[in-house]
Amino acid sequence: MSDRIPGFTSTGSKRPAALFGDSAPDLPARMVSARGAEVWDARGNRYTDYIMALGAVALGYAHPAVTRAVAGAAEAGVVGPLPPVLEDELAHIISGRLPWIESLRFLKTGAEAMAAAVRIARAHTGRSDVLGSGYHGWLDWAQAAGTPGVPAGAAISGTLPFNDVERGRAAIRAAGDRLAAVAFEPIVLGEPDGDWLRMLREETHRTGAVLIIDEIKTGCRLAVGGATERYGLEPDLVVLGKAIANGLPLALVGGRADVMQAGTRTWISSTLATEFVSLAACRATLEVMEQSKVPAHLGRIGGRLMGGLRDLAARHTGLVRGVAGIPEMCFLEMDEADGIRLARGAARRGLLFKRSAYNFVSLAHDERVVDTTLATLEDALSDRG
Ligand SMILES: Cc1ncc(COP(=O)(O)O)c(C=O)c1O
Repeated sequence: MSDRIPGFTSTGSKRPAALFGDSAPDLPARMVSARGAEVWDARGNRYTDYIMALGAVALGYAHPAVTRAVAGAAEAGVVGPLPPVLEDELAHIISGRLPWIESLRFLKTGAEAMAAAVRIARAHTGRSDVLGSGYHGWLDWAQAAGTPGVPAGAAISGTLPFNDVERGRAAIRAAGDRLAAVAFEPIVLGEPDGDWLRMLREETHRTGAVLIIDEIKTGCRLAVGGATERYGLEPDLVVLGKAIANGLPLALVGGRADVMQAGTRTWISSTLATEFVSLAACRATLEVMEQSKVPAHLGRIGGRLMGGLRDLAARHTGLVRGVAGIPEMCFLEMDEADGIRLARGAARRGLLFKRSAYNFVSLAHDERVVDTTLATLEDALSDRG
């Protein structure tokens, strides 16, 4: 029943092909509900999940505090003719907690907020070129030249290989005074080197380009303030999304007030940017993040998972090349066919575990869940059938 949706689903990373190499009748394809770290598929089967809505859920599915906030905002009318009081309140809460966000704009998706960041950077600098590092969403500016449907002039000017200081510096210097912005993901399969982070900051300062940190995966995960908080970075703009509203559709671009001001000289606006169900979800999520010290939990539980994955890698050297990522977001490195076999074997044992970037733990994952997961993975890896 997918002939009405070309490609099976509107979220490419949830296609059976992306998860399991291909579909099979006994593999989960569509879900009906989720709670904590568990998901129920259309056939009523229950799975322990590490995909966690592609990192959009850090408190666990249907967290009661978020659900209560969502229900309250739905009852209060969802959206209306005026911007809600909560938009301004939440902006103050966020800039109070993350002082490098002096001002901000809310949007719905990560790709949209990244596009807004790039537009603001171009308006602020009067320049055109943008360099990226990592994944920044599906919109034109972030695609490589030659991507079907993307006009050549709209595509990204170039990409910087993660942690490659010399090539990064050379690309930024070559772009020179055409360069409006450098956007980068702080974690790409591993931690950033200090030299890489320093180079990005120094070279963008030198050339007058805006430094945009794409914290869509890392915000409310590595720390409430993401990699910027953990590594003490100095962005001009940051973009947050995914976990900030625990799965409700919300993203934001924020940063230096003088740079953000350029957003008022261009046109950035969306009808539902000010619906307040997701704003209420974000406020509730931030409260739980602080009260339950969620990033510390993710680091601790993710560390247990990653340690167990390393043990598995040591025991299955023929199959597993290693472990990539950081405790909060990690996966087993395997050949594609072996990774597919593992993902399928895990799903058949009631476990949704990604074969590539990334598996995410949440507040709902505890020691017992992780230990059971490691035993399931051991069983799936040992199955040569
Ligand atoms: C680092 C990063 N940037 C941007 C995006 C795009 O966000 P969205 O899918 O919400 O548009 C993603 C999504 O995976 C991401 O991980």
